[in-house]
Amino acid sequence: MQIIQTVQEMQCFSESLRNEGKKIALVPTMGFLHEGHLSLMRMGKELADVLIVSIFVNPIQFGPDEDFEDYPRDFERDKKLIESVGAACIFAPEVREIYPEGFQTSVKVAHVTQNLCGISRPTHFDGVTTVVAKLFNATRPHCAIFGEKDFQQFVAIKRMCQDLNFGIEVIGAPIVREQDGLALSSRNTYLTAEERASAVSLSQALFEAKTMFDAGERDAVNLIELAHKIIRAEKVARIDYIKVCDIDTMEDVSVISRDAVMALAVHIGKARLIDNIVLKPAD
Ligand code: PAJ
Repeated sequence: MQIIQTVQEMQCFSESLRNEGKKIALVPTMGFLHEGHLSLMRMGKELADVLIVSIFVNPIQFGPDEDFEDYPRDFERDKKLIESVGAACIFAPEVREIYPEGFQTSVKVAHVTQNLCGISRPTHFDGVTTVVAKLFNATRPHCAIFGEKDFQQFVAIKRMCQDLNFGIEVIGAPIVREQDGLALSSRNTYLTAEERASAVSLSQALFEAKTMFDAGERDAVNLIELAHKIIRAEKVARIDYIKVCDIDTMEDVSVISRDAVMALAVHIGKARLIDNIVLKPAD
């Protein structure tokens, strides 16, 4: 397995694979890998001939008071995990390689990034789409796999690829959860034992709302109210938002008549955790 740190080397590596007729899958990550990331990588291995995994903790998608400095990092552990999946290469550039002096370009997806996390993290998605555009240009994949755990990110990247004609197939992968339902996240490591116990309320709230939806409830306010009640019962939890949105536009919906996503963001201790569940009226 190759470890590549420069854009130029990465482009050469991909170019030679493309010339051999190989199909390339990319899984972009910020490292500190868990089973959620690994599920994306396994999907990449199945869909393509060659898997590239990128590890880059992207400073421009963190706000000034966010956890860029503290974000967990363990390259040696990540390397072993990626090797075990059978990737051909890790692209792990330094910050100055991605953002050299004079860098001043940004990729902005206008509408789908406005709601949900876009409200409390106003610069976040510009940082994500800018770095993903750069990772795409460095690794030149045929397809790229993103987790539906970050649903709004997945929608924004699909939009960017379509709008800018990247010619890359953007594929969504289901959320991987702990036994008790908590969505896996590198940020779960911030939780104390007490906070970890409270964090299960996020998925519980979503699952109970889904049960209510499956029983016929279509009014978003009632589903949101139920979820609020479940999470508010946890003293250490501070809700950022709980919303029901259209899965394509990411706009709020009041009555669910087509596929929607119930998404939430909750601060627990030092961690800001997100989770979601898709609600399909046709099922
Ligand atoms: P990161 O948080 O490391 O996540 C990398 C990928 O793993 C994302 O596509 C994310 O949705 C997916 N993922 C994380 N937890 C998951 C889970 N429990 N189940 C399934 N998939 C999961 O998302 C980012 O990094 C960055 O924003 C990035 C796209 C790399 C750009 O910097």
